[in-house]
Amino acid sequence: MTFNRKKFELQRRKYLTSVGKSKKLKLYSQKFNEAAVNLSYVYLWDWLGEPILQSPSDIMIIQEKLFEIQPDILVETGVAWGGSILFYATILDNINKGKVLGIDLNLDKKIINKLKKSKFSKRIKLIKNNSVDIKIDEILKKEIKKKKKIMVILDSNHTHEHVLNELNFYSQYITKGSYLIVCDTILNFVGGKIKGRKRPWNSKKNPMSAVNYFLKENKNFQIDKNIDKKLFFSNNQSGYIKKIR
Ligand SMILES: C[S@@+](CC[C@H](N)C(=O)[O-])C[C@H]1O[C@@H](n2cnc3c(N)ncnc32)[C@H](O)[C@@H]1O
Repeated sequence: MTFNRKKFELQRRKYLTSVGKSKKLKLYSQKFNEAAVNLSYVYLWDWLGEPILQSPSDIMIIQEKLFEIQPDILVETGVAWGGSILFYATILDNINKGKVLGIDLNLDKKIINKLKKSKFSKRIKLIKNNSVDIKIDEILKKEIKKKKKIMVILDSNHTHEHVLNELNFYSQYITKGSYLIVCDTILNFVGGKIKGRKRPWNSKKNPMSAVNYFLKENKNFQIDKNIDKKLFFSNNQSGYIKKIR
C-alpha cells in the first residue's frame, strides 16, 4: 500500500458524501438514538477515569475541532463529573495551547480536588456560577483580553430559554471560523416522551429549538452540515454551530 494523503483525502470526501446521503444509516441511527436516550446511554463513558457525559462520536468530533481550531480559550458550561473538562484539557495540552474555563452552578469539592491534582490542571479554570450570570462577562473579558481564538461548548441547563440566553451571551465571544457547540440537541430528534427523570425540556422546547431561534437572528452563524453528514450516534446533531463571518 502506498500512502498518498492527497488521494486519501479525495477518497474520504467521496465517502463523506455517500455516508451523508445514506438513508440506511439515518434510519438505524434514529432508532439507535431513540433507544439510547431512553436508556441514558450517554452516562456510560469515562475519560481518564472520570465520567464524561458525551457520546463517543461527539467526543471524537470535538477532538477534531479542537485540533483544527486550536483555541486560546475554550469555555464549557456544565462541568458535572469533570470527565469532559479533563478530556478538553488533555487535547489542549497535547496541542500545547489554550485553557478551558469550566462554569457550573454545582461544583463538587471532590471533583474540584481531582481536577486540581490532574496532570492537566494548568489548562483548567473552574468557575462556580450560573453560566449566564453577569459576573461571567467580567471574568471572560479579563481572561480573553487579546486572545484570538475562542470556542464554546454549551452543556448546562438544557431548557430552550437557558440555551437561548447562553447562545446570545457567548456568541459575542466566538471568533470567525470557530464553533459554538450546543449539546443535547438530540432531545429534538427522538420525539415522544423521554423516559427517566422529569425534566423541563421536551421534543419541542429544547437546545435545538433554541439553536433554530438563534440562527434566524444571527446570520453570522451556521450549522456545520459537513459534521452532520458523519454524525449519527450522537447527542449533538446539528449542534455544531460555526461562525462563518
Ligand atoms: C449535562 S451536565 C454536564 C455534562 C458535562 N459537560 C459532560 O460532558 O460530562 C449539566 C451540568 O450543568 C450544570 N448546570 C445546570 N444549570 C446550570 C446553569 N444555569 N449554569 C451553570 N451550570 C449549570 C449542572 O450542575 C450539571 O453539572
